[in-house]
Amino acid sequence: MSGKFITIEGLDGCGKSTHVKLLADWLEDQGYKVVCTDEPTDGPMGKLLKRILIGEFKVPVEVEVSLFAADRMQHLAGVILPAIEDGKIVLNERYVHSSIAYQTSRGATKQMVEKANEHALKPDLAVLIDVSAEAALSRIKKERKLDEFEKDLKLQRAVRRKYLGIARTGVLKVVKGNQPLEKVQANLRDLVAKVL
Ligand code: TMP
Repeated sequence: MSGKFITIEGLDGCGKSTHVKLLADWLEDQGYKVVCTDEPTDGPMGKLLKRILIGEFKVPVEVEVSLFAADRMQHLAGVILPAIEDGKIVLNERYVHSSIAYQTSRGATKQMVEKANEHALKPDLAVLIDVSAEAALSRIKKERKLDEFEKDLKLQRAVRRKYLGIARTGVLKVVKGNQPLEKVQANLRDLVAKVL
């Protein structure tokens, strides 16, 4: 079996983690070996990013771009590439499209983000679970405190617009997240099945 790299994108609260778990179970039932992982990681750069996200300190957006890209390159080298070489299917929550959507909404240019991520492996499939900013936020609020990015409804709306802009170029497929869970999962499986 040849390895595959699949990235799942969307606002926090869109259901990414739930759907990644369901996809992994479905793939494993068919005999595939699956690695579920996410960004920012728990590595040194990812930990620093998580401190920034909870508002412990602020950095210019250029630093955010560089840190997310550095965390990603480390993630690729340490987790993603070895798993793909081993024939596994990697399901990654968030990747370069997160940096394009979030960091350009926070003032970075698309060129800046693309340059920082130019050596990042292209996914075999990238999917956006699209929900409105309001729906996403009301879902997280029920579970936990919001982080600095999530507190900002205008930012969440801008991120969604950026995601949909990327989707229009064809590199990011869209699944409507406001459908029943089973329907969202079925749409995701249809897309995944096409790249297996
Ligand atoms: P998470 O809640 O999905 O772990 O993501 C944490 C936050 O990090 C989320 O608000 C989006 C943000 N983020 C970026 O701004 N740029 C990126 O490149 C990535 C991977 C995440």
